[in-house]
Amino acid sequence: MDNQIILAIESSCDETAAAIIRNGCEIVSNVVASQIESHKRFGGVVPEIASRHHVEQITVVIEEALAQANMNPSDLDAVAVTEGPGLVGALLIGINAAKAFAFANNLPIIGVHHIAGHIYANALVQSMEFPLLALVVSGGHTELVYMKEHGSFDVIGETRDDAAGEAYDKVARVLDLPYPGGPHIDKLAQEDCEAVSFPRVWLEEDSYDFSFSGLKSAVINYKHNMDQRGEKISPTAVAKGFQESVVEVLTAKTLRAAREYKVKQVIAAGGVAANKGLRTSLEKVFAEEDIPFFVPPLKLCTDNAAMIGAAATPMFEAGIRGDLTMNGRPGMEL
Ligand code: KG4
Ligand code: ZN
Repeated sequence: MDNQIILAIESSCDETAAAIIRNGCEIVSNVVASQIESHKRFGGVVPEIASRHHVEQITVVIEEALAQANMNPSDLDAVAVTEGPGLVGALLIGINAAKAFAFANNLPIIGVHHIAGHIYANALVQSMEFPLLALVVSGGHTELVYMKEHGSFDVIGETRDDAAGEAYDKVARVLDLPYPGGPHIDKLAQEDCEAVSFPRVWLEEDSYDFSFSGLKSAVINYKHNMDQRGEKISPTAVAKGFQESVVEVLTAKTLRAAREYKVKQVIAAGGVAANKGLRTSLEKVFAEEDIPFFVPPLKLCTDNAAMIGAAATPMFEAGIRGDLTMNGRPGMEL
């Protein structure tokens, strides 16, 4: 690979982002315009508001990514963009910007799966060795993905109801913590106190699937019962107990899959991979198991365009190209 430069664009949810990536592993620039402040007062992402923000920000972030890289469109080899899954109105803003940019500058366009992006965030910090197992935990997804080579994604387990991040955000609401709740629960869970005990949901013995809605209901019921008794809950003890349950199940299933599939590497990805408790737990078990474990730095765990550029690079090399008929695919399969 010689000096291959990709402009990447991400707009699937509530971050408008553009980045320039060299050779699939070097971040030349990485610009993220977060909308979190606008969604906070609604306690979650409002799709219509997200689309409006993307429209306002998309050209700003693209220009900023080029400016920070000190590059012109003529320096680029391709434009990559998140094609799905995500909010359709949000996806379309990034896709239309990418198509216009590619058309105007006579560049090829590559449509990238958002989850592939999260996984390839790891390629920005270390080289990926196959076969590998990726635990993808974000606001919309919880998946165990087996990869035998670049571009090959075998989903061996996934959530049957809520995503891990979604459960974090919903429990945070019960505890009156701001949106997005994950980091707040994580912070409380680090404190020293006795945790409330909540159930672990394992499903069938050999299943790699997950379920978090029962745990969420257990937290809601606990608060309800305490309220009825006129007792005050300890948000710290609840956060700690909830996090212990999530982390134990995610860690145990990832370990069992890594053993069964005899992988050379385990990686974590997605917003919830920023979780301190989860990172510590995975690092510990895989150090004991002697399987290399990696997780990207926090700012590459949550949504960004650098990861989309990293995922697009092996696609570009494999000759995969989109065209100007590209459309948003909210339910796109990995
Ligand atoms: O990957 P991401 O930025 O967006 C999606 O593709 O969904 O993930 C966002 C999710 C939110 O649910 C947020 O609460 C969660 O990641 N999150 C965390 C932490 N940081 C972000 N969850 C637990 N602990 C954290 N430290
Ligand atoms: Zn994401």
